[in-house]
Amino acid sequence: MSSNWFDLAGRVALVTGAGANGGIGHAIAKAMARFGADLLICDVDVEGAEQTAREVRTLDRRCVAVRCDVGSAEEVLAMFAALDRAFNYIDILVNNVGIGCRSRPEDLSLDDWRRVVAVNLDGTFLCCREAGRRMIRRGQGGSIVNVSSIAGGSALGRGNFVYSVTKGGINQLTRELAVEWSPYQIRVNAIQPAQTLTPAVQRMFDDPRLNTDKLRERLLAGIPLGRFGEPEDIAKAAVFLTSDAAGFITGHLLPVDGGNLALNAGGSRLWPGDE
Ligand SMILES: NC(=O)c1ccc[n+]([C@@H]2O[C@H](COP(=O)([O-])OP(=O)(O)OC[C@H]3O[C@@H](n4cnc5c(N)ncnc54)[C@H](O)[C@@H]3O)[C@@H](O)[C@H]2O)c1
Repeated sequence: MSSNWFDLAGRVALVTGAGANGGIGHAIAKAMARFGADLLICDVDVEGAEQTAREVRTLDRRCVAVRCDVGSAEEVLAMFAALDRAFNYIDILVNNVGIGCRSRPEDLSLDDWRRVVAVNLDGTFLCCREAGRRMIRRGQGGSIVNVSSIAGGSALGRGNFVYSVTKGGINQLTRELAVEWSPYQIRVNAIQPAQTLTPAVQRMFDDPRLNTDKLRERLLAGIPLGRFGEPEDIAKAAVFLTSDAAGFITGHLLPVDGGNLALNAGGSRLWPGDE
């Protein structure tokens, strides 16, 4: 084992939704490259993916960018065919893509439900299956990290219904695969971020239908560390979980949330009078 527990040199990682116009996937791809991994990244935003690939190459790592909608089985299979051609093996998979559809549950159409389930759950399943098959065949283990959410373990309300349900599913998918693939030394973990300052969250803060000052204040009140996450906060956890430093960790759902999930609904970081 390397003297650097976090060393990813010589490993091939696939990161979904890693385009430079996104947030967390972009940060994860760059962090993995800084720790030595070679990459295949995908996004529906092909120009964003190519931009990330250029940034990774300046770090002297290989990076192949492909366009892939992870909600399409055909496109996921084509992406893994591209991975086979470029690298012929995979050590690390990060399922980062996640979409939402804000709606009251009673108004949500079946089409919108299916669209979010297809991208978040089918996409995560398909990428895990394809990566798992290759890792099992090669016999050298591997590491999978699913980017879940605090919404996977607690309810958000505010129209996040189908998003939360898929994140709960991703949490259970993570535990099941951790058990099923433990004989092959494939570790499967999830990260549960709290609100993290990415373009997606910025779009929410810019939504004219929301009273965003109040929303920011309320969200921050639920984060004991008193700030929103940065994409690099999530990237650090991804490097840790995929590296040898986490060699005995599998089936774990790691909150990277400034203490959000630790806080009781009636709790507060502030004492009365401190507000
Ligand atoms: N930002 C947060 O506050 C937060 C909190 C908890 C969990 N998360 C989770 O973190 C992950 C990343 O979130 P983000 O805020 O960085 O998102 P983002 O919307 O800023 O970026 C997502 C990236 O994925 C790409 N993408 C979207 N749909 C795709 C598809 N079907 N196939 C391939 N690529 C696709 C987008 O083009 C974009 O580049 C998501 O799973 C999200 O649910 C985010």
